[in-house]
Amino acid sequence: MLTTEFTRRFDIEHPIIQPGMGSICGARLAAAVSNAGALGTIGSIGRTPDALAAEIRACQHATDRPFAVNVATFDWAPFAAGIVDAAIDAGAEILTLSFGDFLPALERCKSAGRKTIVQVQDMAGAEAALAAGADAVIAQGNEAGGHTGPRGTLSFAAQVLRIAGDTPVLLAGGIADGRGLAAALAMGAGGASIGTRFKATPEFGPDAFSEVVEAQKAAIVASDGANTLFDDVFDTAIALVWPEGISGRALRNDFSAEWQGRLAELRERVAAGPPGAFGAGIDASPRTSLNWAGESAGLVDRVMPAAEIVAEVVREAEVLLRRAAGLVT
Ligand SMILES: Cc1cc2nc3c(=O)[nH]c(=O)nc-3n(C[C@H](O)[C@H](O)[C@H](O)COP(=O)(O)O)c2cc1C
Repeated sequence: MLTTEFTRRFDIEHPIIQPGMGSICGARLAAAVSNAGALGTIGSIGRTPDALAAEIRACQHATDRPFAVNVATFDWAPFAAGIVDAAIDAGAEILTLSFGDFLPALERCKSAGRKTIVQVQDMAGAEAALAAGADAVIAQGNEAGGHTGPRGTLSFAAQVLRIAGDTPVLLAGGIADGRGLAAALAMGAGGASIGTRFKATPEFGPDAFSEVVEAQKAAIVASDGANTLFDDVFDTAIALVWPEGISGRALRNDFSAEWQGRLAELRERVAAGPPGAFGAGIDASPRTSLNWAGESAGLVDRVMPAAEIVAEVVREAEVLLRRAAGLVT
């Protein structure tokens, strides 16, 4: 067993959180991870408040272990500000907040008595989250899949650990196996957030079979970790404006090869069509779809059930940490 301040505070067995990953996965993955003893999370970007509430209810039926709900705290949709209330009203016990100004949402969660984890990408964010009483902080590095900031995981997390005191710090970005988890725990973290590897699970994806999503998982398995791109080209395709300093990391493909470096032209093309049409068009094909994934794709060897990933990562980390303890003479 790997027991940390994070596992104690959140009443879970294993020091791993599976982050919310948009709306393409939900209760099925979150419940599988939570039932395996780690902390699963339902994502909210792309869901309406009602759809989020339904997903939370589905997860409550699928597990009696703790799970979290992720809220992206910037105005990504006209109803974005109502998502926190929807999650709280639906009975979410744990919220994770990320991106933009998380302070109003953090205050709302704390006043409702919910445990709240804040994912940060810079020191100002870490200081603000700690000062406002976050129950844990995720230091997210640039290696991460999906959206993130410019800092590398290791040195950024070490800086956050220096100021965090008793508040658990989790590392996100580049961690997919026991080596990464052991490194995080050895440096004093409370655990790790693992996204890209949990994308390569049978539980990730919509309920109906999706050839495109399965092809995305296969591309992650095939990746050696070197073919990701951190760039605004992906968000430009879907006309989503993220907070300053945040950009997206996804696997390179035919879409990025055609449009990287031509953002102004892409913006014009997207604006020329009906809202959402360009993004829907590229997402319809495995050769061009936005395959959000991080450098840890190089550590993903096959699609495997979420519960097996949790067990394997913990087992590997335990071996390495026992060995590491022997280094001290
Ligand atoms: C497919 C995918 C979707 C993501 N969507 C979200 C999201 O909706 N909200 C969020 O806070 N983070 C999101 N992230 C980032 C994760 O929170 C996390 O920081 C990251 O996955 C950790 O790095 P890793 O991908 O190397 O494991 C996403 C990551 C991936 C891979």
